[in-house]
Amino acid sequence: MRIILLGFGKVGQSFVRLLSEAGLRLLSHGIRPRIVAVADRGGAAVNLQGLNVEQLLKVKRERGTVAAYPEHGRPNLSGLEVVEETPGEVVVEVTPTNLRDGEPGLSHIMAALKAGKHVITANKAPMALAFQALMELAEYNGLVLRFSGCVGGGTPILDFASRCLVGDRILSVRGVLNGTTNYILTRMAESRIGFEEALREAQALGYTEADPSMDVDGWDSACKLVILANWVLKRRVKLGDVKVQGIRGITLEEIMEELRQGRQIKLIAYADMETLKVSPEPVPVGHPLCVGGVLNAVCFTSQYAGEETVVGKGAGGMETASAILRDLISIKQQVRGS
Ligand code: HSE
Repeated sequence: MRIILLGFGKVGQSFVRLLSEAGLRLLSHGIRPRIVAVADRGGAAVNLQGLNVEQLLKVKRERGTVAAYPEHGRPNLSGLEVVEETPGEVVVEVTPTNLRDGEPGLSHIMAALKAGKHVITANKAPMALAFQALMELAEYNGLVLRFSGCVGGGTPILDFASRCLVGDRILSVRGVLNGTTNYILTRMAESRIGFEEALREAQALGYTEADPSMDVDGWDSACKLVILANWVLKRRVKLGDVKVQGIRGITLEEIMEELRQGRQIKLIAYADMETLKVSPEPVPVGHPLCVGGVLNAVCFTSQYAGEETVVGKGAGGMETASAILRDLISIKQQVRGS
């Protein structure tokens, strides 16, 4: 399976590492991965025989771009050109989230689908801005578009809903979908520290988006909610349909007051067939959604099975890379079964 990787930040680097570690496991699913191209901001490295993972990581670390890859480096070759010119079966799109227009991820995904390549993305922006259009484009071309890593890091939140609850009708989704804000609120409550200090800690630990207002102002949660609403509730909604309120205004005093009442403030995302909103809410201590630290938790209410909650780490390079690997296996299974 020839893989084209677009974006070589934390998630992209974790993915190539995981790919080389998971060789035997992938082989048992009939997958022999070969990374034929990697693109980042400085250009690309392209070798149809396969690029070496250690070499990729080394040039990125030492030279800042994969375009410095010996012999096969292509400075200034864009991700779009790589997708259009390089033969391959799967494009993995992990460029940074850009909520303004979804670029460059949106164009990468569209170009890949038009070029007959399956796509895996962990980039929330294109999915939150153009979910239906992208799914329809994939279907029209007989291709698979997977996006497990967009919600819950490595925690299989989307797969739980679409596979485990397949015989039921999901009525609503309620959850803590952002690790950074959960970390900040947890740290404020645990250590009586202010918002800014807790945010600095989250940034130092690498949980935040490049622009942390994505997290603290609720937009990251809103993107994930839109993906859940489209995928799980089959609603045709976009980011602009979500009523969004973040945690910037929450004071230590409010947090402590709720704690005295046996509750913790969480940034809760909620969707049913009418509502779509993200806002801070008190949750009783001991409730399944009252998770701490960087954890995510999502409670699905379905018609027959009732309430079920999935809990797991919602952020991190290796965690998100594991979701991409899951998607890779799922594409192989889907293509083989078709
Ligand atoms: N910044 C995101 C979070 C990363 O904190 O949850 C994972 O989407």
